Amino acid sequence: MKTHMLAQQVALVTGASSGIGKAIAVAMADAGASVVVNFHSQPDAAREVVEHIARHGGRAIAVKADVGSESDVERLFEEAVTAFGRVDILVANSGIQRDAPIGEMTLEQWNQVIATNLTGQFLCAREAVRLFRRQGRSRGPGDGRREGQREGQREGADEAPSRALGKIIHISSVHQLIPWAGHANYAASKGGIDLFMRSLAQEVAEEGIRVNAIAPGAIATAINRESVEDEAARKKMLSLIPYGRIGAPEDVAAAALWLASDASDYVVGTTLFIDGGMSLYPEFRDGG
Ligand code: BGC
Repeated sequence: MKTHMLAQQVALVTGASSGIGKAIAVAMADAGASVVVNFHSQPDAAREVVEHIARHGGRAIAVKADVGSESDVERLFEEAVTAFGRVDILVANSGIQRDAPIGEMTLEQWNQVIATNLTGQFLCAREAVRLFRRQGRSRGPGDGRREGQREGQREGADEAPSRALGKIIHISSVHQLIPWAGHANYAASKGGIDLFMRSLAQEVAEEGIRVNAIAPGAIATAINRESVEDEAARKKMLSLIPYGRIGAPEDVAAAALWLASDASDYVVGTTLFIDGGMSLYPEFRDGG
């Protein structure tokens, strides 16, 4: 669906070569944003996302970066600014699973998941906050801004493409709330995102930076392909979803679009659960 909700804005989406990140990148481009499609290991898939966006009249570039690496994240933001002049929206989406029962979990499995899922969110959010501060409210020459307009964040906000100075959306998981045996590293990383996101939201809200999160449930992507495609596993998964269907990446993208837009301008430090009710303790449906 084409809208102009994010016209004149730039969105940087990490892990956007597939799954939820890809759907968010496409939705934001459809809403008028220029999009930086970050990827780690799938250059062809990232290029296809960029081409898809271009075919639909949007603007996008693909940038390779490991979100767990400080220098990569710095370069990612530099390339975004070189291509599009600024960043207005960060969607910190990259996430991986390296599952193992606790007795067998290697330090490498633990570290990989924490590096991508938690440290990656910190590094990207920090870089976004730094850039939002440097950008202020100025839109550069020829954009109709008046001198000195960046002072007093609400002044002239009606002329800016967004009421906020910048927006950060962390993609978490229902497992920031629901413990997950056999996936302790993943659940720990997502639990970490929750308090990181809320602490950051509290810290930077007064500057006009809105920080929020989305906690997706079972969304059909590569990360859970086995459970979604195997008949028995799929049935088991569905029994945990009151709404009775496995989610699509577009279900999450719709929420991300709303959180990035002025329609949610008074929403700060919130996590939206997009999970078909998975976080409602469905085991208790019949009275426990
Ligand atoms: C995980 C998926 C899982 C879903 C619901 C997500 O965060 O990445 O593998 O299917 O949570 O348990």
